Amino acid sequence: MHILILYSSRDGQTRKISQFIAAELAAAAVCDVVDLSQAGEGPLPQYDGVIIGAAIRYGHYAAELHAFIRRHLDWLNALPSAFFSVNLTARKVDKCTPETNVYTRKFLAATPWRPDECAVFAGALRYPQYRWLDRVMIQLIMRMTGGETDSSKEVEYTDWRQVTAFARDFAVLAGKTPYLGQQVK
Ligand SMILES: Cc1cc2nc3c(=O)[nH]c(=O)nc-3n(C[C@H](O)[C@H](O)[C@H](O)COP(=O)(O)O)c2cc1C
Repeated sequence: MHILILYSSRDGQTRKISQFIAAELAAAAVCDVVDLSQAGEGPLPQYDGVIIGAAIRYGHYAAELHAFIRRHLDWLNALPSAFFSVNLTARKVDKCTPETNVYTRKFLAATPWRPDECAVFAGALRYPQYRWLDRVMIQLIMRMTGGETDSSKEVEYTDWRQVTAFARDFAVLAGKTPYLGQQVK
């Protein structure tokens, strides 16, 4: 089985989750882990499944996510596919599912892509890596939402067991539905 994992990441956590998923799938599949911004515009090679992960920044996914979906919509909808969102709101137990996470719910309602599987993962807070303005903004948001405000801290909220379960479910999904050879437009 050959799986494509595309990620849209600014600070590295979505890339790290993508690499973790690839490692989880290693027994069942060969995975290509590719930065969405490097995915190019041309037709994509044949895969048995595709996973796209994207981080939230100031309430939005990167424009490259929407552009990729527009460009490859038929290809995406013809394959077993999955989407995962990465954000800090998802560190709260009542905001970590596709239905309860506002960014994911809105995205799924608006996109013409129909992923077969969807998940929301809590990301990481890495104050020392942020530029001054970002650090101040995130600190403000954390103060308002009861999160970590110590700007010397790095906190990884990602629940790796949740990521493992997501990867295993996708392996089952992609294994059952062989790629039918649709052409990319
Ligand atoms: C400048 C900045 C803005 C962010 N905006 C949001 C936001 O609006 N909502 C949210 O839930 N998380 C927000 N986050 C948290 C990120 O989604 C989280 O840190 C995630 O792990 C980033 O993924 P990445 O490392 O793959 O870029 C923001 C983080 C930064 C640094």
